[in-house]
Amino acid sequence: MTNSHTDIFTINGGYMLSGKTEVNGSKNAALYAIAAALLTNEKIRYYNIPDISDIDDMLDILKSLGANVSYNNDYLEINANSIDGTSLSKELSIKIRASILVLGPLIARFGEAECFLPGGDAIGNRPIDIHIAGLMKLGTKVNVNQDKLIAKSTQLSGSKIVLDYPSVLGTINLVFAAVLANGTTIITNVATEPEVTMLLDLLILMGANITGSGSQTLTIIGVKRLFGTELRIIPDRIEAGTLMMAIAATRGTGTIFNVCSEHMSAVIEKFKDANIIVMDYDNSIMIDASNTIKSVNVQSVPYPGFPTDLQAPMAILLTQADGTSIIHERVFDNRMLYINEINLMGANIKIDKQKIFIDGPKKLHGGSIKALDVRAGAAAIIAGLAAEGETIISDLFHLDRGYGKIEDQLKHLGAKILRK
Ligand code: UD1
Repeated sequence: MTNSHTDIFTINGGYMLSGKTEVNGSKNAALYAIAAALLTNEKIRYYNIPDISDIDDMLDILKSLGANVSYNNDYLEINANSIDGTSLSKELSIKIRASILVLGPLIARFGEAECFLPGGDAIGNRPIDIHIAGLMKLGTKVNVNQDKLIAKSTQLSGSKIVLDYPSVLGTINLVFAAVLANGTTIITNVATEPEVTMLLDLLILMGANITGSGSQTLTIIGVKRLFGTELRIIPDRIEAGTLMMAIAATRGTGTIFNVCSEHMSAVIEKFKDANIIVMDYDNSIMIDASNTIKSVNVQSVPYPGFPTDLQAPMAILLTQADGTSIIHERVFDNRMLYINEINLMGANIKIDKQKIFIDGPKKLHGGSIKALDVRAGAAAIIAGLAAEGETIISDLFHLDRGYGKIEDQLKHLGAKILRK
């Protein structure tokens, strides 16, 4: 049994990783798919759901609204035919950021929704003004009183919406509302992350009328109702990238299976620029980081650019590169808190506002660090694997939100990592 509040990782680092491992289903894509089940009173079945605590929290949210949820070995089944409430408790709202995704489906199906401002990682200011402005354009009255949000609509009507920023959850919430609205909605400047595209594919399977998937403009003609279906969740590109960075930071070689290489282009090209050999096939990626790693500059931006969720793991890899690398974090405004701890392990990383300057190569040494958020936790593991000696990582509950048994994946690559 694991208890992520008291468990710690002990890593004996400084060894090259090598071998093969596999990637789980995508955390974020699975969260969106689970929320989509609220849009229909028919059964929905999902394969390849990752075993992580964010999914448990999302399912608790659906159950609290009256949905039936059951697990088989292979799949998750959700039936939202008996929803008996449209109000989400504060306790559940603040557990995860994706709790905000109940808004669109509940308003679309029942004309009302209540929730509290969502939780999630402390990685900066995370407003929901884009969600609210879009819902209002579709004919919803939204009232925010301190941290409680109440939304009501007698009839959602299609509209033209231009997002101020291609917010991922904002795009999804508005699509959720528009698929059952009266008339046509055109949303421009939408997020194009692969998890969003999977969600659009799912909604189309459910009977939604959406065109423009994968582009920055979606046209949605509202339908009367949606139906049950089944879907396999896409591989987690952030988990795949984390494993690639772990192998490379130890100067190792390895192959990662069950990846969609097409979703990894920004990472693969950055690796090649850094003189790391990458061979990508349809659903596997081989890397060899035995040559000198070169410094590179990275900007974390919306897809198809380099993902913000891999900014911290990439920074650790670049401590092993020859020269000064610069990473410019352009999505979140407070996502660099992990750097102080990594510097205590021997790195030389300087912060200037949204930019970090990484001087390498630096020999890291073991340390005792906390997983500050889900991706900073992944960075801490990579630092521990690259560092000589013993590293202890605590606060694993942050990591367990998004990585399902990452220690097992790393053990397949020969890592000396133990959960106690
Ligand atoms: C999602 C992902 C997260 C990922 C992020 C960017 C989930 C549960 N989380 O978060 O892992 O790091 O996409 O790829 O899927 N913003 C506003 N107003 C809004 C909404 C967002 O100003 O109403 C700003 C945010 O403050 C941030 C930027 O937009 O600076 C990006 O946020 P967004 O794309 O919305 O991220 P999330 O959807 O919350």
